[in-house]
Amino acid sequence: MKQKLVVLSGAGMSQESGLKTFRDMGGIWDNYHVEEVASPEAWKKNPELVLRFYNERRKALWEARPNAGHIALASLEDRYDVEIITQNVDDLHEQAGSRKILHLHGELRKARSTADPSRIYTLHTPELNIGDVCELGSQLRPHIVWFGEPVPNIVKAQKIMEKADILVVIGTSLVVYPAAGLIHFAPEGIPIYVIDPGSPNLTLSGVVYIQKKASEGVNDLLEKLEHYRLGFNQKE
Ligand code: APR
Repeated sequence: MKQKLVVLSGAGMSQESGLKTFRDMGGIWDNYHVEEVASPEAWKKNPELVLRFYNERRKALWEARPNAGHIALASLEDRYDVEIITQNVDDLHEQAGSRKILHLHGELRKARSTADPSRIYTLHTPELNIGDVCELGSQLRPHIVWFGEPVPNIVKAQKIMEKADILVVIGTSLVVYPAAGLIHFAPEGIPIYVIDPGSPNLTLSGVVYIQKKASEGVNDLLEKLEHYRLGFNQKE
């Protein structure tokens, strides 16, 4: 039976794929006010600006490819039962071949009906514009969880976290809730690895910090996990 390795990833995971993070120097929130582009109020006030904001990010995603960190995580699936909980709206974990991925904040390549939120569509061009409507004739919106909106997958994510044998936190500043609170659902005493060149807001003890970027850090993680696994088996 494979050990369950749960990953909580954030924007730093995709930084080396050319996608901006939010709160680093030159990050997305340096150039846009959240309330103007990523909230239901923004959508009501200026839908064109909101659509432009996501079209810009979607165009960047269209050019982006998974980095060595995404690929190394996917390779862990032959030894671990890997479940990725991501705050990212890109599909780079999917492109790298990871199979169990739960998006907390939505998916940039998807749009949904404003009349019936269960009608979700995959976009085949990077642009979503005013006048793009669903079968009911209602304007399509980005399939993104905006600030102030509920996070539909949070309970599912908590249940995954509760079953973790190993937790890996990669590329998130852990400042946005409820996502950041997920780490407190991990079982007491399991090994926790944090991969981040910066220092995320983590108040847990007994954490193994790999202060590197994702592409190098995940490869270091593979080594540490191998030692842990061998050590684990020796104890068995
Ligand atoms: N590799 C690993 N980590 C990195 C890298 C990298 N190459 N580059 C930056 N980081 C780290 C930063 O040090 C920081 O801790 O990634 C983290 C990025 O933090 P944020 O920009 O706050 O991104 P994130 O934590 O994912 O934001 C959470 O906020 O705006 C909302 O919905 C949005 O999902 C997002 C949420």
